[in-house]
Amino acid sequence: MFTLGIETSCDETSCAVLSGKNKILSNVVSSSLLRHQPFGGVVPEIASRHCLEQIEIVYQKALKIAGISDKDLDLVAVTKGPGLIGSLFTGVAFAKAISYGLDIPLIDVNHLEAHLSANFIEHDEPDQYLGVLISGGHTSLYVCEAGNFELLGETIDDACGEAYDKVAKLMGLGYPGGPLIDRLAQEGDPKAFVFTRPKLKKEYDFSFSGIKTAVYYLIKKEEVSDLIFQKNLSASFQGAVVSWICTQILKAVKEKNIKKVFVGGGVSANSHLRKTLIQHASENQFEVFFPPIELTGDNAAMIARRGIDLYEKGLKADLNLGAKPNLKIKAKGC
Ligand code: KG4
Ligand code: ZN
Repeated sequence: MFTLGIETSCDETSCAVLSGKNKILSNVVSSSLLRHQPFGGVVPEIASRHCLEQIEIVYQKALKIAGISDKDLDLVAVTKGPGLIGSLFTGVAFAKAISYGLDIPLIDVNHLEAHLSANFIEHDEPDQYLGVLISGGHTSLYVCEAGNFELLGETIDDACGEAYDKVAKLMGLGYPGGPLIDRLAQEGDPKAFVFTRPKLKKEYDFSFSGIKTAVYYLIKKEEVSDLIFQKNLSASFQGAVVSWICTQILKAVKEKNIKKVFVGGGVSANSHLRKTLIQHASENQFEVFFPPIELTGDNAAMIARRGIDLYEKGLKADLNLGAKPNLKIKAKGC
């Protein structure tokens, strides 16, 4: 069975072909990143125009790399949300046209669930696990059991990746900030600056806007273009963020008696997070999994993978499918 995945939720246009459930034949990603860089963040109009320009090109390229023709496709899976409405519409309209034109089933996918599913291309999905979703738009912990999600906690303000991007912007580093700060932090002193964790009402929630404001005031006092300052600030900021994420994960693992943790989303590429969590896992008798780096950011292979799971459960969309910018994971506790 050949499945086409389509992902256009934000600034990337991606099409992938999976053979069976786990063999990625192609996963083409075209990013509009460079066009957003002068603005220090994603400009929705630029992102959606880019999706519109790229979708057909990316689709043809994905088929070519996979070595199949459109007639070979058996299923088309597309991101329904969450994301930017203009970008989402492009993918959904394209997927409906493919489904209608080739007379193959259509399945809609939640982008957030797909980030976790990126892990299941290489590892079997267990009955119970902790799902850690850390991206540019979301920071949430879920207990996933027999296909159902229970929301344990989430950010009450900025998402983790968003905090990376905003701090990088304040430092004049560019966009996206995550990889830039990750790199600078490797040569910085994580104890140079102390960031205190705010007290929150719900024990598993996060908040990253305070740390961003603290960085803002630090930058006003110091010479931001100084490379040593940038490295120390990056290491201290990253140390604080990663330590908080790990504390919450450890608490959840212990309280909920969880043996496997699956991390997904753009921030799951972070080198310090990976190293620290792997260390915690070996000291606390649980296993932690991350997607391969190329599947951490937005890509269509994860959409296809999630789509196949849903299709196997008997779900299907029809040509009335629309995009949903604020789509949530259907979870207990939401
Ligand atoms: O999952 P994603 O590609 O898009 C959303 O669905 O939001 O995540 C993008 C986010 C950006 O905020 C980016 O700065 C962050 O992931 N990111 C990282 C790293 N690589 C990407 N954050 C920290 N460390 C990284 N190495
Ligand atoms: Zn994403």
